Amino acid sequence: MPHFGDYQNAIYNAGLSGVIPKLPVDYATLEQRASAAMPPSVLGYVQGGCGDEFTQNNNADAFRHWGMTPRMMVDCSRRDLSIDLFGMRLPSPIFMAPVGVIGICTQDGHGDLAAARASAETGVPLMASTLSNDPLESVAGALGDTPGFFQLYTPKDKALAESLVRRAEAAGYKGIVVTLDTWVTGWRPRDLNVANFPQLRGAVLMNYFSDPVFRAMLARPPEEDGAAAVRQWAGVFGKVLTWDDMAWLRSLTTLPLILKGICHPDDARR
Ligand SMILES: Cc1cc2nc3c(=O)[nH]c(=O)nc-3n(C[C@H](O)[C@H](O)[C@H](O)COP(=O)(O)O)c2cc1C
Repeated sequence: MPHFGDYQNAIYNAGLSGVIPKLPVDYATLEQRASAAMPPSVLGYVQGGCGDEFTQNNNADAFRHWGMTPRMMVDCSRRDLSIDLFGMRLPSPIFMAPVGVIGICTQDGHGDLAAARASAETGVPLMASTLSNDPLESVAGALGDTPGFFQLYTPKDKALAESLVRRAEAAGYKGIVVTLDTWVTGWRPRDLNVANFPQLRGAVLMNYFSDPVFRAMLARPPEEDGAAAVRQWAGVFGKVLTWDDMAWLRSLTTLPLILKGICHPDDARR
């Protein structure tokens, strides 16, 4: 696990031999470069938020409020950011959140694998999305020694949900991250204005198309009738989960279950 601050030494030292970084390190320039590289439909999905995007912007603004007060005359040349979580020692408390279109954010269509390789290299655990352009087993295979977590969009069909959870466990993921806030798609004006929703165009559905339970629901396999497979996906996506469903989910796996999307303190306590 590198000390993250050491990356700058590597950059400056490479600069002595004339090597300039291929990618910028500041977010504003990264965003500019990504905006130029991505098709507008993908960019809109990634950058856009719900409604007038007030909440999205307010969230970012609220985060900017935080600063750090450094303390002097303490030797912190060797830092320890490690944490204990679910019986694991993790090198830092930082995770990569699941991003369900990361697969189509790279030109080769394998962004999930790219994110997994970044996780392997940095030791920052990846939460691999259900919405993936590569099957969860392939993503797990690219994680190296870094533990991975599988994010579950719980399907309405219980057998399919069970299949995804069992596959994730068999593939070596260390926890199931159950997303609670997306059983229906948000009202996303940027996507609505151009009538674009990537999943309905067949993108990022490989975890379904590779699943034996999902395939058994189809008259013809996705490779032969993609449109019917997408229709079937739209029909099974997004179970409305309640607290009562937790016993069922709990019964499917011995892995930790992490509830994603909890906002209210009372929900967190419960
Ligand atoms: C383009 C995009 C795709 C996302 N896909 C998923 C997903 O597949 N599963 C999920 O649980 N959350 C997904 N999220 C939500 C993120 O994991 C995260 O919870 C959210 O962006 C809030 O974090 P932020 O304020 O740092 O953006 C997605 C977010 C974005 C912007």
